[in-house]
Amino acid sequence: MIPLSPLYLPVRLPPGMGAAMTDELQTIIDLIRYGASRFNAAGLTFGHSYDNAIDEATQLTLHALHLPHDLGPAYGNARVTLAEKEDVLALFLRRIEERVPAAYLTGEAWFAGLSFKSDPRALVPRSPIAELIEAGFEPWLGGREVRRALDLCTGSGCIALAMAHYNPDWHVDGADLSDDALALADENAQRLLAGNARFVKSDLFSALQGEHYDLIVTNPPYVTDDETDALPREYSHEPELGLRAGYDGLDIVLRILRDAPLHLTEDGLLICEVGEAERALAKLLPELPLIWIEFKVGQMGVFVVERHDLVTHNARITALANAREGIVPTPVSSAGGSLF
Ligand SMILES: C[S@@+](CC[C@H](N)C(=O)[O-])C[C@H]1O[C@@H](n2cnc3c(N)ncnc32)[C@H](O)[C@@H]1O
Repeated sequence: MIPLSPLYLPVRLPPGMGAAMTDELQTIIDLIRYGASRFNAAGLTFGHSYDNAIDEATQLTLHALHLPHDLGPAYGNARVTLAEKEDVLALFLRRIEERVPAAYLTGEAWFAGLSFKSDPRALVPRSPIAELIEAGFEPWLGGREVRRALDLCTGSGCIALAMAHYNPDWHVDGADLSDDALALADENAQRLLAGNARFVKSDLFSALQGEHYDLIVTNPPYVTDDETDALPREYSHEPELGLRAGYDGLDIVLRILRDAPLHLTEDGLLICEVGEAERALAKLLPELPLIWIEFKVGQMGVFVVERHDLVTHNARITALANAREGIVPTPVSSAGGSLF
């Protein structure tokens, strides 16, 4: 075994990524297989865009080799140079040692069939809502005409921009509280040449007074405090503002349910992702008719609700949401319904 010169391998290799291995790994497929094995052995957490070690190793390998993400299988047996191997292994190393999500290492995430710039200014796009966008939100829209749509808590802008891309006749707004996220969303709008989308800084609906939408879609923060504190290291690279949402994950969702009727058109629709907070929400508001969407892989904690049902139950929702914000009930607000 001839040890490789540090000139060729300047990266510090983790245990098992030794010099002999670099002789044994010769092809693209070798590298992908090797990366996947090391990722599994290191106990990485997946789920930031890809849900398994092979796909992540493929993504990182092709990125480092400057090859398209959909490279044909025929190239799998192509041999790589030592310098290329070094680049691939350096990415594997950061993924393992620093637990950086693969999308942040490559700077790119795919969502609804579109390529987005991805970096720690916003969460890695991964919402199941992509499937609804690609299906034209049917059967949920039921033929309703959409002229204006809102993506509340837009982050990287992925939901807003995918809606704008697939529906060029819609006017789409994306709102977020984070300046960093909005800067990334603007860069993504330029990347996708989305002329029918704009981004607004807003604490939920606060900067959207007087605006009305036929469809509001939102993937807000909904992770409970306890879960946020216990999340795998991968999540620590993402902004906590996009995750943490109170003791039961519903602090933001309740405010959205309370205020959405003021911003929905008469027969408007709200589609909201709450993930694991689904059970807490159903327990808190058992009387609210939420339809839990069935995705190709099953239920994913995303519901649809009609404006008129939010109006009907507004008194109870308002009481719950106001309590989270420390708003003391007044005779008018506790009577409910006065805003509509
Ligand atoms: C779960 S991330 C979703 C991002 C994006 N929609 C996606 O699906 O990848 C939630 C987003 O909500 C934003 N956010 C948190 N609190 C907010 C608030 N009060 N008003 C507006 N946006 C908020 C965060 O900055 C973050 O970008």
